Amino acid sequence: MPLAGKRLLLVISGGIAAYKSLDLIRRFRERGAEVRPVMTAGAQQFVTPLAVGALSSGHVYTELFSREDEQDVGHIRLARDCDLIVVAPATADLMAKMANGLADDLASTILLATDRPVLVAPAMNPKMWVHPATRRNVETLRKDGLTFIGPNAGEMAESGEAGLGRMAEPLEIVAEAERLLEDGAKPLSGRKAVVTSGPTHEPIDPVRYIANRSSGRQGHAIAAALARLGADVTLVSGPVTLADPPGVEVIHVERASEMLDAVLSALPADIAVMVAAVADWRVATPNMEKIKKQPGEGPPPLMLAENPDILKTVGHHEKRPKVVVGFAAETQDVESNGRIKLQKKGADLIVANDVSPETGIMGGTRNSVKLITADGIEAWPELAKDDVAGRLADWIAARLT
Ligand code: C5P
Repeated sequence: MPLAGKRLLLVISGGIAAYKSLDLIRRFRERGAEVRPVMTAGAQQFVTPLAVGALSSGHVYTELFSREDEQDVGHIRLARDCDLIVVAPATADLMAKMANGLADDLASTILLATDRPVLVAPAMNPKMWVHPATRRNVETLRKDGLTFIGPNAGEMAESGEAGLGRMAEPLEIVAEAERLLEDGAKPLSGRKAVVTSGPTHEPIDPVRYIANRSSGRQGHAIAAALARLGADVTLVSGPVTLADPPGVEVIHVERASEMLDAVLSALPADIAVMVAAVADWRVATPNMEKIKKQPGEGPPPLMLAENPDILKTVGHHEKRPKVVVGFAAETQDVESNGRIKLQKKGADLIVANDVSPETGIMGGTRNSVKLITADGIEAWPELAKDDVAGRLADWIAARLT
């Protein structure tokens, strides 16, 4: 019984389908779940907090600026103190807010503050569902890791129009919530993964450093994709401007030596995916003070020392993870260099990509990769980095099982 003893936060927004949320509360509770309801102002036009409170047998949260509620649990605890958030019905308006990070009432603030899985059951007029704005918002929310159930096709309660827009039935929502909460359902549950991402900064002096153009997009997307499959992920990130992916433990580092320490302290792990563009060299002895221009003396010499190879260290470590994946950013001979790297680094897979400036891959949002294993080479079509990440997480899950 995956719902027994689980704490659900049910966000009800303002649509006629809100009447079905009353039944949904009963279905969840029949299965042993505890339901905390949050209602938007719109929802209260369709069903009353009294009815929702009677069925959930507890307090109904409606206000962001309620002194009583804030003293009691507070919106941040509401957002985190649950196993799953279910948004049913989710109106087009609430989804637009969620996709854009707006937080102007209790429901939207909770949805922005949460780090818990979110299941969304949309309900709206069919024209609103197919509107390009809603399409964009759904796409964004899917990429953010939210799960959707429905909408179903059928006749609309209020207008009689037919099409996609009816909220999924309560029992369908219950089944999807059970699937999400069932630990064994995710192929990487119980598995530990360590991922590196971004560039490293190797100091020259307190203000200057050696760096590269890596954005961290691919590594961060892989960490998020592994977490979505249920893995317990530690992401060791160099300096990037990206947000920490949801549901991932992030360790922020600057130098390669710090990245190595953080990766080794995350072992043992089942999976290592070393995506970071680690600087090959560091300045042997960074200056403690800012190096000054000396008139007539010319530029100072920089003595470089080799950085540790993190992938190679992990690939040959006594606690070597079962699946070790490396990347090979090359500007020439992508395949043959990838094969050599597979051997040298002790990896099971090298994801090779051509980072010549004309490809726009380094720092961009798309990637075109070749998978190099002992068995051969598989070329993937050009994909968004998020999609490369999703496919790679599936590849890793298949390899482990
Ligand atoms: O040797 P090269 O830098 O081309 O290898 C790329 C792969 O090795 C990437 O997976 C990268 O994360 C990893 N690497 C590393 N530590 C280094 C250099 C590269 O982990 N010092």
